[in-house]
Amino acid sequence: MLNVAVLISGTGSNLRALLEAADDPSFPARVVVVGADREADGLAHADDFGIPSFTVPYTRYATREQWGAELDAQLRVWNPELIVLSGLMRLLPQTLVDAWAPRIINTHPAYLPEFPGAHGVRDALAAGAEQTGASVIIVDNGVDAGPIIAQERVPVLPDDDEHTLHERIKPVERRLLIDVVRRVATGELDLTAQP
Ligand code: GAR
Repeated sequence: MLNVAVLISGTGSNLRALLEAADDPSFPARVVVVGADREADGLAHADDFGIPSFTVPYTRYATREQWGAELDAQLRVWNPELIVLSGLMRLLPQTLVDAWAPRIINTHPAYLPEFPGAHGVRDALAAGAEQTGASVIIVDNGVDAGPIIAQERVPVLPDDDEHTLHERIKPVERRLLIDVVRRVATGELDLTAQP
C-alpha cells in the first residue's frame, strides 16, 4: 500500500476524486494526509474521509524557504512515499523539492510544455489554441518543467470560457492522476527511472 500526501490550495475537486478512488480497498494507495498553504475549502474533503490535514499558511512566513521548511517538517511526520500537488498554487523551494525528488508529482490543466504556470487554462484561451489538455509531471525546480508522466489532449470549443474549459479538463486530470498513483503504487511506473 503506497502512502500518499496531497497538497492543495483550492477547492480540491481532484483531491476528492483521488480520495474516492483510494476508498476502494482494492486501490493500491491511500491518502495519509492532506496539506494546504492556506485555509483551503478542499480541506473539508479530507474531513469527509476521516483523513488528517494540516495548513502551513504561506503568508505567515518571511521567505519561501521558511515556509518550505515547515511544510517539509509536517510532511515528514507522515512519511509519505508520494506527494501529489493537486492545485497547490505555490512554487516549492528548491530544498524541499531536492529532499523529496522524484516523489513529488503535479497535475496541470494544459498539455505541457504548452501553457505552464498559474493560468494554464486562461493562457490556452488567450493564445487561441484549438486544443489544450491535462498533464501529470514529476516536480523539479522549474515551473511545470519536470518529466511528463501522463498527458492527454482536450479540445477547446468555440464557446469556451476559462470556467467551462477548466471544468472539461479536470475530469481528464482526475483520470490521469488516479492512474498515475495506481501505477506508481503497483511499481508499473518507476519515478526514479524517468529522464
Ligand atoms: C487543477 O486543474 C490543477 O491542475 C490546477 O488547479 C486545479 C485545482 O482544482 N493546478 C495548477 O494550475 C497548477 N499550476 P481543484 O482544487 O478543484 O482540484
